[in-house]
Amino acid sequence: MGRLDGRVAIITGAASGIGRGIAQEYAQEGAAVILLDRNKKGVQQARTEIEAAGGTARHFGVDITRYAQVRRIRDAVVKEFGRLDVMVNNAGIVIYDTLLDSRLEDWRKVIAVDLEAVYMGSKLAAEVMARQNSGRIISTASIQAFMTTSRVGAYNAAKAGVLGLTKCMAVELAPYHILVNAICPGAIKTGMSRMPDGTDETETKEFKELYLKRRRIPLGRAGLPRDIAGTALFLASDDCRYMTGQMLIVDGGYSLTL
Ligand SMILES: NC(=O)c1ccc[n+]([C@@H]2O[C@H](COP(=O)([O-])OP(=O)(O)OC[C@H]3O[C@@H](n4cnc5c(N)ncnc54)[C@H](O)[C@@H]3O)[C@@H](O)[C@H]2O)c1
Repeated sequence: MGRLDGRVAIITGAASGIGRGIAQEYAQEGAAVILLDRNKKGVQQARTEIEAAGGTARHFGVDITRYAQVRRIRDAVVKEFGRLDVMVNNAGIVIYDTLLDSRLEDWRKVIAVDLEAVYMGSKLAAEVMARQNSGRIISTASIQAFMTTSRVGAYNAAKAGVLGLTKCMAVELAPYHILVNAICPGAIKTGMSRMPDGTDETETKEFKELYLKRRRIPLGRAGLPRDIAGTALFLASDDCRYMTGQMLIVDGGYSLTL
């Protein structure tokens, strides 16, 4: 028996990193997973991998900021599977820039993917879930909703916005038995931990010295997609029954240290 047997889950940003990890975990636990990503090849590969392991998956190459396209996908999912139990708003981007050097169009790009698409995905999912009188909405925010470095203003603002939206949706959707929660990962080894020059930040000498050796991350390692997938599984499962509007920090203790 899987912990998500019979459930249907949409996961955005499922071609790589955390989204792919969540999709694999959900499929292993018996959910039919619907994978959305603008990286068509990556999302196709993710589906093939899940099916090879015996799971049920569908995939769509789509830009999740396109509301009408995502709505059509949502409708196709409900037509095929008859329900939608879990919506994971996970796709994200970062554009590094200081306020002074930034361009308005880059700010808007980040807000569109990291915040506006979370609103869209949640709304489209909630319309189905409210009729069902059940559901889970899970969004990948970030510890950068509370902490910061320089050059990530739009990203920080978007992730803080996701937390605000999560709380309000939790209150509004509680009468329909829809639980809404967010995960705030720390430094996770994925496509996003690659810096603009292509190096993986978690592999640099500076990262190893400061975060691992000097234990800014008390657990002594960067996170992996499966570390986040375990939390996303809990939030989608029956073990999570009385928790809504919460932000789960999954960062190896990073946000505890000075
Ligand atoms: N990696 C980290 O350290 C870290 C830390 C905190 C939060 N996060 C968050 O985790 C989430 C997943 O990121 P990741 O680390 O796995 O990075 P990733 O780059 O490996 O994955 C992000 C995925 O989102 C997809 N995507 C981006 N824009 C899209 C769009 N408009 N439409 C459809 N798909 C789109 C990308 O193609 C990619 O497959 C993001 O929301 C990110 O902000 C990551």
